[in-house]
Order: sequence, then structure tokens, then C-alpha cells
Amino acid sequence: MSQTTFPAGFLWGVATSAQQIEGGRHEGGRGESIWDRFATVPGKIADGTRPDVSCDHYHLWRKDIELMKGLGLGAYRFSISWPRIFPTGRGPANSAGLDFYEALVDGLLEAGLEPFPTLYHWDLPQALQDGGGWASRDTAMAFVEYSLAVTRRLGDRVRRWTTHNEPWCAATLGYEEGHHAPGHLDPAEGLRAAHHLLLSHGWAAAAIRRQDPAAEVGIVLIHSPAHAATDSPADRDAARWFDGFFNRWYLDPIFRGAYPADAVADRVARGQLPGPELPFVRDGDLAAISTPLDFVGVNYYSRVVMKAGPDGLPVAVPPLPPQTFTDMGWEVYPDGLRETLVRIHRDYAPRRMYIAENGAAYDDPAGPDGRIRDTRRIGYLHGHLLAARSAIAEGAPLAGYFLWSLLDNFEWGFGFTKKFGIFAVDPQDGRRLPKDSAHWYRDVVTANAVTGTPTASSQGESRAFDA
Ligand code: FCB
Repeated sequence: MSQTTFPAGFLWGVATSAQQIEGGRHEGGRGESIWDRFATVPGKIADGTRPDVSCDHYHLWRKDIELMKGLGLGAYRFSISWPRIFPTGRGPANSAGLDFYEALVDGLLEAGLEPFPTLYHWDLPQALQDGGGWASRDTAMAFVEYSLAVTRRLGDRVRRWTTHNEPWCAATLGYEEGHHAPGHLDPAEGLRAAHHLLLSHGWAAAAIRRQDPAAEVGIVLIHSPAHAATDSPADRDAARWFDGFFNRWYLDPIFRGAYPADAVADRVARGQLPGPELPFVRDGDLAAISTPLDFVGVNYYSRVVMKAGPDGLPVAVPPLPPQTFTDMGWEVYPDGLRETLVRIHRDYAPRRMYIAENGAAYDDPAGPDGRIRDTRRIGYLHGHLLAARSAIAEGAPLAGYFLWSLLDNFEWGFGFTKKFGIFAVDPQDGRRLPKDSAHWYRDVVTANAVTGTPTASSQGESRAFDA
């Protein structure tokens, strides 16, 4: 059977985030996050659920480490809950919160897994939101204090730190489009939030390195290639607009020390900025934001196809059959991952890259035999891994892949309705049940290779993962 092999030492992992899996809402002195608060607002979470218990990883983390060990993984990307460490945002760090992550990190190391933590995956302490949240520059300073408290405690065991996960989502979905916490609808506030997220990244990266010169620091960005629906200049400009709004607004300041002029002009034209001078940028900010990084993490799920709408404004074209979609309505488009990695490599030349998230939501119920045959997920992963391998062949310095996600979990505004896990979670007792994709992924990891056909070769061994 044909095999596509990955380079020796390629790092295989899975990714999760604290707010989505931990639960333990009131335990260990944890404070309230903006998502805890947002989830109490009627209508904000599709199924009306709250992330109070979620996958109960706060209690079941030892079992989850066993699952990952069973998969043969080299690393685990997780996030640290800021309100566990600073329940009210500022003041003394909560040592019970640090103890929790210390035990997790020690458990991972004992199991031979590299801990690959992200400091911010959207769960801002509500107390900081009450002071303005990311729209306030003070939050960037609080983030540095928080980062140092965590890295001081864990820095002797954690080598690589990620500051932020997808600042576009935190800023735009949270402050401009209202889909995410804190649910605001103010474009100007969204741009300020984006700047303070980036600034806090740069400040924290420098502070972490000052504290520990051996630490490696990076950031994780979401990326979608923007394709024009037709070759018309108007449609091509719509694709340029999306690329500036979504991709380059973050890549350019981080790698080039400047916001993209065309995307700034777009915001000015929409009345969302007073002029080309950004009022929230102070001297030295862009130098701080563009501090050189050890790696960039890329999250890829799909592409977008753009066209000029009837009023000339850019709109996304819903993908049409025969393309297939995941339950998120996202087109399955593996070549976009190759394109993304090659583009970032060519245009921004990061030292090293990781695919920090990639995966698919499909709801496949267990069959009468209890087995979950998630063949569509396996197909999605198979295609994307081949695309990642092609990007390496084209020169992208890709060093690892983190599958989103280990467990079905709290998918933000969708609650528990979108299932990304390679393990299902029993809502009654929290039991983890491997899907066929878990077996398939274990085979990939073990072989450091993808085989010719996307089938699970170790079917029917569902008990193998039971911790
Ligand atoms: C990414 C997020 C992650 C999860 C996946 C599906 O944008 O980083 O938390 O929601 O999408």
C-alpha cells in the first residue's frame, strides 16, 4: 500500500482549550470568565448549555493523558485558564490554579508527552472585562503579569509557550460581531481589542524570554485562503479585502511591524477608523508586536470564496455542491492547508511552523455495536495530512500537527452541538469513547505516515483506549 511519510521527528499531537473541556467552574478558587458570563445570556449558546462541567477534564485529566499516551502522541496542546490563575484579573496569583497545571504538566511529562500550552484561548477573567476587556490597554499589561506568573511556575518543565490563540476570533467575533464573549457589536472597539491582543503578545513574548532565555515563544493564528468567485476585478478585490481583514491584519504587524495599508484603507472607507493613523497605536507598539518568534502555529479549517455583492461590498459565497461540508457548514478543502502553509512560509518566513489546529465537526452516532464510524472525519484528516505533507515538500518549515480535538467539547456559541472530537464524551458519566478516527490517528502517529486510503486499519479495538 502506498505511504506518505513525514520527516523524522515530526511532532504529532492533539489540541484542546481550557474553557471547552475543563469544567470545574467553581473549583480550586477559579474566578468567572467572560464565557461563563456570556453563556448565562439567553440565546447566546445554541443549545442553552453552560461550560460549567463540560468534559470534566478538571477531574478526569489523568484519564485524558492515558488516552493520549494510547494514541502514541508526542505532544499535547492545551490552554491555561486565566481565571484559574487570577480569579479577579489582578492581585496575587491563585496557587491552587497553578497547582492544577503543574500536576497536568508533570503527568504529561511522565507519560512522555510534551506540554505545549497556550496562555490565552479566549477565557478572559470577567473582572478584566468589567474594566474594558481587550479594548483597554490595561488588559495587555495584566496579560504580561499573568504570563509571567505561569511561566515562572512551569518554565522549568515547559519549553514552548504560545501566547494567544486566534486573536482574530477574540477581537472580531467578541467585540465587533458579537458572536463570542463579551458579545459586543462595535467595529472600532474590535480594532482596539485586536491591537491590545497583539501588543500583549509582543510584551509577553519579551518578558517570558527575559525571565527564561531558553524559552521558545510563538503565537497561533487562524488562516483561511481567500479565493475570488470569478476573475472579475471586483471579485478579486473582495478576496483581497477578506485576506486583509482576516489574515494579514495579524501576520503583517507580527512579521513586518506594520498594519497592512490596504486593509487599513478599507476600514477607513467603512468609517471604522478616522484615518490612516491608528488612534490606539503608540510609539514602540509595532516594534514590540514584531519581536521575532521561534514559531508560528497555524489553525486551518477551510477556505473562503469571495465576491462583490450587489452593493459592491464583499460577501462570502456559500460553497456549492459537489463540495462537501462539515457540520459547521465549512467546505472540505484540503488544498487550502497546503496553500496556507506555503503562503505564510513564502510571504513571512517564520522560523518554524506547527499546524496548531485542524479537524472537522461531524455528528456520527454510535452503531448498535457501540462503535462510532466517523469515516467522514477520517477522510477530512487524511486529505489535510496529505496537503500538509505537500507543503513540507514545497519548503514550508512545518514541524508538527495538532488535531482538533481530543474530545467532543463545548464549541463556544454552538454549545455541545458540534462534535470535533476523536473521542465522544458520555454526557451522563463523562466516559470517553474512541471513534474510528482515534484508531486511524493512532496508526498515522505510529507509522509517522499516512497510508493510501483513508480507512481505519485497527477497527474494533475500542477497548484499547479505556483508561
Ligand atoms: C478554532 C478554535 C477552537 C475551536 C475550533 C473549532 O477557531 O480555536 O477553540 O473552536 O475553531
